[in-house]
Amino acid sequence: MSVSNPMPNSIPFLDLVTPHIELEQELTEVFQKALRTAGFIGGPMVEEFEKAFAVFCGTPHSIAVSSGTDALRFAIMACGVESGDVVVTVPHTFIATTEAISQAGALPEFVDIDERTYNMSAEKLEEFLGQCKRDKSGKLISSRSGRPVTAVVPVHLYGQMADMDPILRLAEKYGLIVIEDACQAHGAEYFSRKLNRWMKAGSMGRAAAFSFYPGKNLGACGEAGAVTTNDATLAEKIKVLRDHGQAKKYYHDVEGYNGRLDAIQAGLLHAKLSHLAKWNTQRRERAAEYNRLFAAAEEAVLPPFEPSWSRAVYHLYVVRTDDREGMMNHLKRAGIGTGIHYPIPLHLQKAYAALNYHRGDFPVAEKAAAEIVSLPMFPQLKAEQQARVAEEILSFTSGPVRQHVQGASLAATTERTA
Ligand SMILES: Cc1ncc(COP(=O)(O)O)c(C=O)c1O
Repeated sequence: MSVSNPMPNSIPFLDLVTPHIELEQELTEVFQKALRTAGFIGGPMVEEFEKAFAVFCGTPHSIAVSSGTDALRFAIMACGVESGDVVVTVPHTFIATTEAISQAGALPEFVDIDERTYNMSAEKLEEFLGQCKRDKSGKLISSRSGRPVTAVVPVHLYGQMADMDPILRLAEKYGLIVIEDACQAHGAEYFSRKLNRWMKAGSMGRAAAFSFYPGKNLGACGEAGAVTTNDATLAEKIKVLRDHGQAKKYYHDVEGYNGRLDAIQAGLLHAKLSHLAKWNTQRRERAAEYNRLFAAAEEAVLPPFEPSWSRAVYHLYVVRTDDREGMMNHLKRAGIGTGIHYPIPLHLQKAYAALNYHRGDFPVAEKAAAEIVSLPMFPQLKAEQQARVAEEILSFTSGPVRQHVQGASLAATTERTA
């Protein structure tokens, strides 16, 4: 993940260097501590981070693992999803969501997203579940695959939670497990109309998965992830799964995985966790500033939508435009980094050709994938940099520049941040 940018006045899509320089001393001390104790795998540094992250998420348990993908896979397995079961999710997400479902032995099936929040549409989920049948034993059966439907994975994309109340209500009605993919939503909040209070991402489903990939709101200096849950038995199962199926050394109750978190990463994450609330506030301020700058140009650039029940943490700031290629090219020439999260919905990916979905199956996700652009977004982004991003975008959308760049080849920033 490169963050250097050769053009003067260039604005990176993501700056990962500045926060690490700011925290250099704290982070270096973590390395020294690990070197001096040689406690590299598990141990107190991991346990202390797990406790602190659980507190941050408002859950009694957090289990640190080696990646967000493993977190989701272990959560799905530990929740009791069985081989051949259907797990319902969205096509507008990073492929890790469905990789985790498949790697747990289950089959992903999709429902479309809401066109304003880009998250799972509860109406589409209801429609999908309404088309399922019950078999003789009362199991809910997918009309698409004929397999039992046992779980739903809503994804809290871009740092905004999915509309969890109706999703949880449907899950209860149909007897489904809900596992949150909170990999992009550390600290995001949702006002539950049912519970009449704000809830943190990761605290509403049976379990939730977080990624600490470096570009995330809370990022490690390498790979890392965590599961959160309110359920102590589930937490124990996940601990066993991440450690070769053993609760006691060399006594293997099940076949598990090597999915533990390094102590150094846990220590680094713990040090950074104390800054996360401040960084999230800064991201929200940056988002509000972009919204203000784009307010007069909503016809040409549609800013993100944050419903009144959401406090998003803007892992990504994603706008929509009808000439994405032209806009990205224009910004690239101006030295401004952008990204697309994600250009091809999962049901149209080659990897999922065997699922036999077709173009047109999820029109909202398909249209979004063709029009979205992620703009520079990180806590240290400066107001003057945002002003320049907006100025370039507005000059492109309103003027002759647009004709000039139309047809130029797209060479966008393609760094993976999410
Ligand atoms: C929505 C989503 N799910 C799952 C993952 C997987 O996390 P990781 O890369 O840590 O395995 C990511 C992050 O990359 C993600 O953005």
